[in-house]
Amino acid sequence: MNKSVTVSAPGKLMLFGEHAVVYNHPCLVTAVDQRMKATVELLNAQEFQLVAVDVKVAGYKKTLTELGKGNIPKGAQFVEIALKNIAETYPLSSGFKITTSSEFSSQFGFGSSSASTVCTIKAVTELLNLKLSKKEVFDLAFKTVLGIQGKGSGFDVAAAVYGGTLYFVTGGKIIEPLNLTRLPLIVGYSGVKADTVTLINIVKETSDKYPELIESIYTNIEMLVKQAKPAIIAQGWQTVGNLMNVNQGYLEALGVSTKKLSAMIYSAKDAGAYGAKLSGAGGGDCMIALAPEGKRKAVEEAIAQAGGQIISIKTNAEGIRVEI
Ligand code: MEV
Repeated sequence: MNKSVTVSAPGKLMLFGEHAVVYNHPCLVTAVDQRMKATVELLNAQEFQLVAVDVKVAGYKKTLTELGKGNIPKGAQFVEIALKNIAETYPLSSGFKITTSSEFSSQFGFGSSSASTVCTIKAVTELLNLKLSKKEVFDLAFKTVLGIQGKGSGFDVAAAVYGGTLYFVTGGKIIEPLNLTRLPLIVGYSGVKADTVTLINIVKETSDKYPELIESIYTNIEMLVKQAKPAIIAQGWQTVGNLMNVNQGYLEALGVSTKKLSAMIYSAKDAGAYGAKLSGAGGGDCMIALAPEGKRKAVEEAIAQAGGQIISIKTNAEGIRVEI
């Protein structure tokens, strides 16, 4: 048996359908080529050890029987609960040292918690020779993330596991890879870290007050997601851009855009983008824009002028993989 395994998984960007996807509607998500990595080593001691320098965890350890108990530092939660959930189904006969590292900042909203959960589950189960299917990795990772956050659709977990660009319905009811070769997005970071659960709760409050109104917004978002899917595959960028603008309008209506995100989005459109919208929960994190190749530079400069930081990524990246 191997003594150590390294696994990597991509980050993600939401393309269409955020928030509605929490409530049984579809979304479109793409994996990005900035990756999270986890190396898992077998230990003789019945111990869990964690080094996750990116989230300020070093020298953290506890016995396997203590997994999930006591005060768990924020940076250790996802990896520790992932291991606990594995142990519930597949009893562990040895300990593990887990080291995670990321090519992207956990501030961007690229899904570092979900990606580290997915990497942990894949690496530990590989080391135990369990050969889980992608769906089994997804289910265990989604259970872990939902157990910690209490809310969420699992789209970020699916992007980390499957990679590519996915049509996804809440909880993995549908996980459908789209066959595409190109999706030339421009990504701008707002400089503000958003908290997904806080944003989900803000939308929930509005939806408790105006349930029919908000549900009809979700239904309209579903309609545009379903139109965006073939348009992305056909590389009909003008249509995709138009639908991004419509989706952004609904996100404004849900109350999750910010002055800064809106300024970046309007600047991108003024500079010739086909369309632009926030990506993810809102409240900060990133916006995305789609522009004709000849206008790409001008759009990037306009986003930077509005105070955004351009993040250079490739979309449609490979899903989880064992590193040699
Ligand atoms: C957050 O990036 C996107 C949300 O739809 C939450 C989720 O789907 O888990 C707001």
